[in-house]
Amino acid sequence: MITPVQLKMLTRQEALELAFTEQLPQQTYNGQDYLILPSQLFYEAIGITMPELPEVDFYSYETDSDPELFREKSEGFSLLALSNQELLCVRAADVKAIKSYAESQLLDLSTTTKVPPEQRIATLRRTAVLVMDDLFNDPSPENISRSSKVVGSFVYVIMKDPSAYLFLAKLSSHDPYTLQHSVGTAVNSIILGRKIGITDETELTELGMAGLLHDIGKTKIDSAIINKEGPLNDDEWVEMKKHPQYGYELVKDHPEIAESTKRAILEHHEQPDQKGYPKQIPYDQVHLFAKIVCLSDIFNALITDRPYSKAISPFEAFKLIKLKISHKVDPELLNTLIRVYGGDI
Ligand SMILES: [Fe+2]
Ligand SMILES: [Fe+2]
Repeated sequence: MITPVQLKMLTRQEALELAFTEQLPQQTYNGQDYLILPSQLFYEAIGITMPELPEVDFYSYETDSDPELFREKSEGFSLLALSNQELLCVRAADVKAIKSYAESQLLDLSTTTKVPPEQRIATLRRTAVLVMDDLFNDPSPENISRSSKVVGSFVYVIMKDPSAYLFLAKLSSHDPYTLQHSVGTAVNSIILGRKIGITDETELTELGMAGLLHDIGKTKIDSAIINKEGPLNDDEWVEMKKHPQYGYELVKDHPEIAESTKRAILEHHEQPDQKGYPKQIPYDQVHLFAKIVCLSDIFNALITDRPYSKAISPFEAFKLIKLKISHKVDPELLNTLIRVYGGDI
């Protein structure tokens, strides 16, 4: 755990990430638990505008006495007052409010043009992976809503800053597997959607959500099957192939999730040769978003290091898809994705 002295030396971004991952240090005074926060959490880098504050009571941090009430929930406080306090405290029970404040600030940082594009995209992707971590641990309606903010930011970055495409595409192939696979699939789905002419932001967000949530049904499958090293036996495959249906059931009553997103989750393993799963429906009845997510999913898995196989380059991935698994994907979409990576954006 980080010490109070180390807290003071963090950048604002580092402080926000620490708050977001609930790693801020705690201290107990008079039987009360407090979280210690560095004040740069609340500074804008430029320092002119006062950022919104979380709705919690703030206490001053004292090394030799109890924390004192510094600002009540309903009051604002000035930047000047804040500049005299390098560290602040809040009640440990307010940890969730601090976490959601940090989340919204990180998403803001990822879309403000003051920050260089490379850093914005890195922030966005890290934030997305953290939100996905919560989502896979607890696929609740609240966590599903949170993930739509993340996808909204991806769409924003991709729409406003076309040069971000390649950064994003590159970033989708680093990092350990699992969660970042969903993020990478979402990013590639949005890029592919744009490339085939979808320009409506709402539609692109729905498509991104489909990429993010396509494997959410795996949370309902025994982790012994999910994490098994080596090939699955027949029974395990039967169970594994239920994940689109499980995923659909998780989201089907969620009012904020679009019908197209739900269809894509259910149909992302249907195939042109009708040998996919779960329903083996004719390919012309498969939703376009399901076809896009299917290809992005396969492609992203190949270009990412996985527990049992090394990442290959996009070029090798295209070759492999064409030669070995073209029966699983829409050929026109595949050609479009190849053009994206050819640099023709
Ligand atoms: Fe899947
Ligand atoms: Fe997947």
